[in-house]
Amino acid sequence: MLSKWPLTFACLVMCGCSYSSSTSGTGIATGTAVQTTPGAMPAGAGRGAARGAADPRIAPRVPASFPESWRFAAGESATFAPNAMAVSNSELASRAANQILERGGNAVDAAVALGFALAVTWPEAGNIGGGGYMIIRLADGRTAALDYREVAPSAASRDMYLDSAGNLTDRSVTGHLASGVPGAVAGMARALERYGTMTLREVMQPAIALARDGFVIDTALASSIRNSERTRLFAGASLFFPGGVPLASGTRLVQPELARTLEAIAANGPAGFYRGWVADSLVAEMQRGGGIISLNDLRSYAPRERRPIQSTYRGFTLLAMPPSSSGGVTMTEAHNILETWPASAKYGSAQWYHTVASAYQRAFIDRNSKLGDPDFISVPLERLTSKSYAAQLRAGINPLRATPTRVVDSTMQALPREPMNTTHYSVTDSFGNAVATTTTLNGSWGSGVWVRGAGFFLNNEMDDFAAQPGMPNMFGLVQGEQNAIAPGKRMLSAMSPTIVLDSANQVLLVAGAAGGPTIITGTSQVILNVLDHRMTLADAMRAPRLHHQALPDSLTIEQGGVAPAVQDSLRAMGWSLRPLRALVNVNAIMRVRGGWEGVSEPRRSGGAVGH
Ligand code: GLY
Repeated sequence: MLSKWPLTFACLVMCGCSYSSSTSGTGIATGTAVQTTPGAMPAGAGRGAARGAADPRIAPRVPASFPESWRFAAGESATFAPNAMAVSNSELASRAANQILERGGNAVDAAVALGFALAVTWPEAGNIGGGGYMIIRLADGRTAALDYREVAPSAASRDMYLDSAGNLTDRSVTGHLASGVPGAVAGMARALERYGTMTLREVMQPAIALARDGFVIDTALASSIRNSERTRLFAGASLFFPGGVPLASGTRLVQPELARTLEAIAANGPAGFYRGWVADSLVAEMQRGGGIISLNDLRSYAPRERRPIQSTYRGFTLLAMPPSSSGGVTMTEAHNILETWPASAKYGSAQWYHTVASAYQRAFIDRNSKLGDPDFISVPLERLTSKSYAAQLRAGINPLRATPTRVVDSTMQALPREPMNTTHYSVTDSFGNAVATTTTLNGSWGSGVWVRGAGFFLNNEMDDFAAQPGMPNMFGLVQGEQNAIAPGKRMLSAMSPTIVLDSANQVLLVAGAAGGPTIITGTSQVILNVLDHRMTLADAMRAPRLHHQALPDSLTIEQGGVAPAVQDSLRAMGWSLRPLRALVNVNAIMRVRGGWEGVSEPRRSGGAVGH
């Protein structure tokens, strides 16, 4: 039997074939990963270590070491491709992007193809009924931050989710009233028009084919359907729960209504969604269930093009998402605090957990109290992202003791713990362009509402507003007036698509995540693992993660990921530890010698595909 390596090499040389790996919903890598370029590897060093070591512009990678109790091994390989790479939570969608890349499309063309394909193959979060953010870095040095977050409908009001007694209802989560005006189609079309090279019709072909001809449901999607309680309540149940039974893995899912909608968008651009029969279907669906999105809301939707937050960290440059997402500000603030130490503490040590968690804790205090839609409130962006402010915050960190959040800020209120919903994808091309995109319906399967006749799910993004400012909502979420509901306003997000440039201003890393507030800390840690600890991308993605969001005032760790002695030290320092099975769902690409490495989230499903 041929080993993978010679087969791959032969393929690389002779047929220029695609490279892919996938992970199943079990969280264990299962795919036929094509991961190597020729060259012997020191045991345990990871393939990227050898590649990086030979290129003076790429820092050598250092083998990682994880606790024995940790479920992932260090030293695994990543998917390698010499030209271009796409990584997402759906291997089929990554393949769609690679098709476009192989046809000569750039990373923006491929990212838009991937976004539409995800709406078909990963409908719990990939979407046309939600919104998202895209960071673009072009080979010529131009950058862009596209904000296509949903907005509150014009009939929305501050207290719309309170009952007559002033208590919060669940209408911001489930059903027709939970949706903001979708931004995904307008945002992706804008990105393509401004920065792509192909037509919408061209890049949407893979998605249309997947919807029209169907695809086979894998274990990850089957499990997601099984657990999608809200979906059972609305019209989409006819497709996803035929006869009341959830679609099982191995079943072919054909979505003719969605295919028709995608055809309309491909033919007419955003007008195919925001006007005409698709818009009419959406509004008719609203009217059936007491929703308030109107035809005028749809016609008025406009994405915003903003300037990425550009920060530096130990000689690298980060391009991250500005408000209406909190991702870039919060990550920048935390990294600036960490940079006040001349070097990072050893990865996985008690000191490392202490410093990183202390930085996140302080950044989240500002995140939760000072951020919101910049079109509606004034955001102290410069101050929050400045090195001098970070130095002030650092001065408050006791090197030996955790600081209770209420000592740092006595007014701080709790945020909820959010499940791993949302979805992120990263794309790079052979021209040197890179795209990081995060998109969401908010909760998995959004509000549960499925637009009859048009075949797509709607978001429940209105729950990302402070539905009752100053008071906890049904999930314990308490936020301030900055994020109160107002017509036309964008709800604050945690989505953190990020591109890291090396000291020569070349794209080094493209990353982002799903998982509510853990998006920020998860994305940050993959970046820190690569920049501070010189891990290979495979190790950086498998490394145990932590999360702190100020309140609840606990340090979330991954089960089995922290050595018992380190846990004892952290408790002795005053940290309240909260173990969780898995934290965050990241999809990332890293430049290595001769090409790109891609890794989809080992804790979730996905695929890295390149050529
Ligand atoms: N809906 C999750 C987020 O935007 O952060």
